[in-house]
Amino acid sequence: MATTIYVLNGPNLNLLGTREPETYGRATLGDVETMCREAGKRHGLAIAFHQSNHEGALVDWIQEAAAKRAAGIVINPAGYTHTSIAILDALLAGSLPVIEVHISNVHAREDFRRHSYVSRAAKAVICGFGINGYSLAIDGLAAMLTPSKG
Ligand code: DQA
Repeated sequence: MATTIYVLNGPNLNLLGTREPETYGRATLGDVETMCREAGKRHGLAIAFHQSNHEGALVDWIQEAAAKRAAGIVINPAGYTHTSIAILDALLAGSLPVIEVHISNVHAREDFRRHSYVSRAAKAVICGFGINGYSLAIDGLAAMLTPSKG
C-alpha cells in the first residue's frame, strides 16, 4: 500500500510568519511541516514536504508523486490556485486523491480568489482554518484511504 503523502506549497508560502500575518497568521512554513509530519505519523504515513515559488517545480513534484505511486497529494497552490491550468492538468494526469488547502478563507476575500482551477481535480477543499487546515487535510485523506472508515 502507498504510504507517502506529498504536501506541496506554492509561491510566497516560504514567507509564512511574516507575510500579512493578519491574514496568514504567525506560524512559519517550518511549523506547517512539523504539523504535517505529526499528522502523518498518527496515520502511519510518511510526508514528502515541498515549497516552490515556481509553477514548473510544483508540476514536477505532482508528476513525481504519481510516478512513485504516492497515497495522495495535499496542495496549497497559493496564487497559482487562481491561474494555473498547468497545475490542474498535472493533478488530473496523476489521478491521485488531492486535497486543496488554503490557510485563509478565500471566499471572504477579493472576488478573484473565489475561483480555483485546482478544485476541479480535488476530492475536497479546506480553507479558513489557518495552518490547522493542513492537519485536517491529512486526517481527511487518511480516512479516504481507509475504505471501512469512508
Ligand atoms: C492562499 C490563498 C491564495 O489566494 C493566496 O494567493 C495565497 C495563499 C491561502 O493559503 O490562503 O498565496 O492559498
